[in-house]
Amino acid sequence: MMRVLAGFVFFLLAGYVQAFDYLQPLPPVPPSPADNQPTQAKIQLGKQLFFDSRLSYAGRTSCNHCHNILAGGSDGRPLSIGDSGQANKRHTPSLWNVAYQSVYFWDGRATSLELALQEHLLQTHVMGMPNKNTLVGRLKAIEGYAKAYQQVFTTDLTFDGIAKALSAYIRTLITPNSPFDRYIRGDKTALTDKQQRGMTLFREAQCLACHFGINFSGPAPGPAMNMGDGFYELFPNYRGTVYEKRLKIADDLGRYTVTGDPGHKLMWRVPSLRNIALSAPYFHNGSADSLQQAVTVMAATQRQRTLTAKEVDLLIAFLNSLTGEYPSQTMPLLPPTPNKAVP
Ligand code: HEC
Ligand code: HEC
Repeated sequence: MMRVLAGFVFFLLAGYVQAFDYLQPLPPVPPSPADNQPTQAKIQLGKQLFFDSRLSYAGRTSCNHCHNILAGGSDGRPLSIGDSGQANKRHTPSLWNVAYQSVYFWDGRATSLELALQEHLLQTHVMGMPNKNTLVGRLKAIEGYAKAYQQVFTTDLTFDGIAKALSAYIRTLITPNSPFDRYIRGDKTALTDKQQRGMTLFREAQCLACHFGINFSGPAPGPAMNMGDGFYELFPNYRGTVYEKRLKIADDLGRYTVTGDPGHKLMWRVPSLRNIALSAPYFHNGSADSLQQAVTVMAATQRQRTLTAKEVDLLIAFLNSLTGEYPSQTMPLLPPTPNKAVP
């Protein structure tokens, strides 16, 4: 499989059209790598770590600070402020259903969830840990973590293991049974008439050429896509629209910043559209503050098409049907450090 697949080509290859279901329901359980199979104890440890701000250098930022799991999975800001007090360059994605992605980050630079988190923990404007040992040392000094870690991994606490436990928890963040899923499974009453017309338009306007598969972000890891291979597209696909300057969408060169390959300029991982109604603002720089605007910009920049207000409304109706059921999250108890300051 090519590392960079172009959606239109993919769409037009008759073989794939037959071999691949463009509209797919969310499977109940995502894949986990052989060396990080989930257990209840590992997931519980990952969840504690996720909500614990001691994972950040200054101690004020938990993962949940930006990826608010109790809400849509992000913080609603165009660009989030990290532990350093400074804003990130790219918008915070929702973590719900990321378990079905084949590469991570907007530019796809991480080839697994575990590797994404290893990088993330050490990013200055995210958790701000200066190096692996600082984090490992701090968590080891918290007795509850040292013990729980031993029980889960049967070794002393390591940096890799921290990323593994966090990944195991993130793979439980699945939102099944959206109206769309119920419809695809055969309940023809699950979508309203308007949503069905929106789905037809989504296909007819060829949004589906890029946004298809489990997460509407291209093929998930499986027969059509190896884990670590990404599905990238140009954004903007057509240059020179009014939105390009207004939203500064061509200022960041996307995948090129990772590979340095001129052919990758302005290429981005096709993002998920599941629960999209709940993760405003939109785009890699958070520049579109409503779904109406994001859809309008997409049609113009990707399909060179000006949508009528009615068409935008239909597409939004369909996109609303992609909001699934959020399993309620109980807050974990975090291991204390009796009679001591945070190590
Ligand atoms: C300061 C805000 C902030 C904090 C805190 C934060 N993240 Fe992120 N996260 C981001 C941003 C911004 C991105 C996108 C970065 C990029 O694409 O370059 C991201 C991306 C991710 C991704 C990849 C998602 C995808 O769609 O590819 C995962 C997974 C993730 N974060 C998990 C975590 C975990 C686990 C923690 C805690 C250890 C955490 N994040 C803490 C802002 C944050
Ligand atoms: C040529 C491929 C392509 C086509 C066609 C396309 N998109 Fe996209 N879409 C993308 C890419 C790539 C991005 C990520 C943009 C970025 O990096 O900011 C995206 C982003 C989005 C987003 C914002 C996602 C987020 O989390 O911020 C929405 C909503 C969206 N598309 C909807 C649509 C709709 C509706 C259509 C049809 C009118 C469409 N797209 C057509 C490739 C495409």
